[in-house]
Amino acid sequence: MEQKIRRVGVFTSGGDAPGMNAAVRSVVRTAIHYGIECIGIRRGYHGLINCDCEPLSFESVSGWSRRGGTMLYSARSEDFMGESGHAKAVSTCKLLGLDALVGIGGDGTFRGLLTLVESGIAVMGIPGTIDNDISCSAYTIGFDTACNTALESIDKLRDTMQSHERCSVVEVMGRHAGHLALYVGAASGATAVLVPELEIDYEKDVVEPIRRARLNGRTHFMIIVAEGVEGGAYEVSRRIQEATGLNARVTILGHVQRGGSPSARDRVMATYMGYEAVRLLAEGKRNRVICLQDDKYVDYDISEALSMKKSLDLQTYHVMQVMSGMRHGV
Ligand code: F6P
Repeated sequence: MEQKIRRVGVFTSGGDAPGMNAAVRSVVRTAIHYGIECIGIRRGYHGLINCDCEPLSFESVSGWSRRGGTMLYSARSEDFMGESGHAKAVSTCKLLGLDALVGIGGDGTFRGLLTLVESGIAVMGIPGTIDNDISCSAYTIGFDTACNTALESIDKLRDTMQSHERCSVVEVMGRHAGHLALYVGAASGATAVLVPELEIDYEKDVVEPIRRARLNGRTHFMIIVAEGVEGGAYEVSRRIQEATGLNARVTILGHVQRGGSPSARDRVMATYMGYEAVRLLAEGKRNRVICLQDDKYVDYDISEALSMKKSLDLQTYHVMQVMSGMRHGV
């Protein structure tokens, strides 16, 4: 019989993502609903090591849903990886009397949670990253807002590129994953999208689509590059210039993509995922990751979740290519 949960800790970790605050608000309010106290840990694992925390009440999280960034701050903690940092984090959990910890973040956050499980701490993970690269879940909090933020800038860029009949190479975030690049590319009607998951053949994947677009009467071109592509946007621009003579201008959207008020989708996803995490804890489940699969909220054991692999949505990639003028069999 699992011990009844009386107090939980909640923290955000890794790269911040719009919607993290809505998730924390939901964890707090659902905890209160089940008669559970909630402690906010500031600055992720760094705060856990240093016992940097504050009690969170129903009122203290009021208005958090619409706030960008993370009100609990975030950090990437090297110390937590070491033995003494880890031991301190475990003693903070004991000192604060936490019966469970809810971590909101990406893969790195979940790997940290798993090490706590191995030290006897009960945990729950909520996927929050603009990269949408958590294998067990079709969606991660922050992705929709980041796509819309990038899209807004790309639409503006397109206006000026069109006026000057130029080629634009836009780098979007995604150090290891191209989900954001692909989605933004499909939404913006890009000429080509380059992602780290797919090997790049410059002639076939970049030069040929530009030629096709030219033949179709286009005089400006939009190439979306994920940050993790070798050489990044500057290398892509150099290659385009070399092969086509076009002056390919580079724009790196950078951290602006992580900011801003969360979209309706991110607020609702975050609220459901926060609710599910605490509901499952209250009902006796432990060490799970909350996921979205086939439009349903499901949960996986954290070690199973971490062993899963997520592949790129090749159907979207293909449809995007068709929209940019790819002929059958090309
Ligand atoms: O949040 C994930 C992510 O946005 C990656 O796409 C990016 O490479 C990384 O964070 C950069 O984060 P930071 O600059 O904060 O280390």
